[in-house]
Amino acid sequence: MSNFKYKRNRLYCEDIEVSEIAKNISTPAYVYSYQSIVDKYKELKSAFANIKPLICFSMKANSNLSICRILTEQGAGLDIVSGGELYRAAKVKADFRRIVFAGAGKTEQEIREALKLNILLINAESKEEVEKVNTLAGGLKKKVQIALRVNPNVSGGAHQYIQTAKKENKFGISLEEAKKIFLQRKKFIHLNTCGIHFHLGSQITTNQPFTKALKKVIPFLSQLRKQGIEIKYLDIGGGFFQSAKQFAQAILPLLSNLNICLIMEPGRFLIAESGILLTKVLYLKKRKTGKNFIIVDAAMNDFIRPSLYNVSHRIVPLKKTPITSSAKGEVRQRRQPAVTKRYDIVGPVCESGDFLAKNVNVPFIKTGDFLAIMDTGAYGFAMASNYNSRPRPAEVLVKKNKFYLIREREEYKDLIRKEKLVHSQ
Ligand code: LLP
Repeated sequence: MSNFKYKRNRLYCEDIEVSEIAKNISTPAYVYSYQSIVDKYKELKSAFANIKPLICFSMKANSNLSICRILTEQGAGLDIVSGGELYRAAKVKADFRRIVFAGAGKTEQEIREALKLNILLINAESKEEVEKVNTLAGGLKKKVQIALRVNPNVSGGAHQYIQTAKKENKFGISLEEAKKIFLQRKKFIHLNTCGIHFHLGSQITTNQPFTKALKKVIPFLSQLRKQGIEIKYLDIGGGFFQSAKQFAQAILPLLSNLNICLIMEPGRFLIAESGILLTKVLYLKKRKTGKNFIIVDAAMNDFIRPSLYNVSHRIVPLKKTPITSSAKGEVRQRRQPAVTKRYDIVGPVCESGDFLAKNVNVPFIKTGDFLAIMDTGAYGFAMASNYNSRPRPAEVLVKKNKFYLIREREEYKDLIRKEKLVHSQ
């Protein structure tokens, strides 16, 4: 059940009328529903209740401290990919024993920081990395748990940029090479090589890539066990974006009798539908050629997914009268037949690639109206930049009938905070 709903033709987030936030905080602004985040976490937890997996929220999807804390309070662990994310995890007092660390290029400093904090697992992505972790663990006089990220050569993901488990991708280690590393485990005296990890890609809406990968990885895991290698953890990564129940139904049978601690790393699943981006219409521009533009105050620097992956996000008005949104997300007239115009919804950035939607039907839109770009809780703010010297937007959390500013809108002075003005003469 979505917590973004129209009541009396006004868009609400929980018990707050969204236009109230637009007026108070101004636009562009990301708005998240507390309840949606908790509901999604519980949906996943209960679908897998009988094996009690460790659900590690993939912080890269949205690393705002308040958002991370909502999830850790619910019992989630964290999937991190950088020292910066580890720093944020510490700021929300996350349980380090529930943190897994992936990434093809971890620096020595990042590995050392993670080892010092005794995180649960380093998911290593190459033999050289395994050697490095071993050396660094030795330096700290520790024995640490490590998983190997295998590359099962399976395709999954909505766009080629977000597929990660094909053999031509940079991620993971082939099963053959992983086996060699596991067999040499005694060489790595500071490591306990006790896990297998994979991550297939992102925005995967079918079960098939997962069942395909598991059918390769589980026999591999059993083979290792037969050779006396103890495998305690199976981390199946994130990327799934479908009903938790259906996902569980497809993969749980494959895991039965495996006697394993299952780890999952959802990002988008937990947070995408829990957030929207508010924006205001600045100008309407009509060309004689028939091309029409709605120019809004959010741009590719605030939300890059349409420009980068060519994905479409539903865009709806905050005020439905006299317009409403159809199931397809196109903005339509309510009573009379729609006198729609086709528009591109674009931002102020100086690139033709700066668009939020292309060729959508929109009637009765006028300057000053507010729009909401839906399902932008994941990889929205997280990928925002200052391109065109645009301060990044505010972030707001709604909980019942209250809203909280969880990140202030940046100001011009933030843009130059780290810069030094050097005179050339
Ligand atoms: N685990 C690992 C190792 C990952 O690399 C990722 C995402 C996840 C978990 C979480 O995936 P999720 O459940 O959120 O799909 N910026 C792109 C998505 C890139 C995903 C990168 N890795 C987008 O906006 O679609």
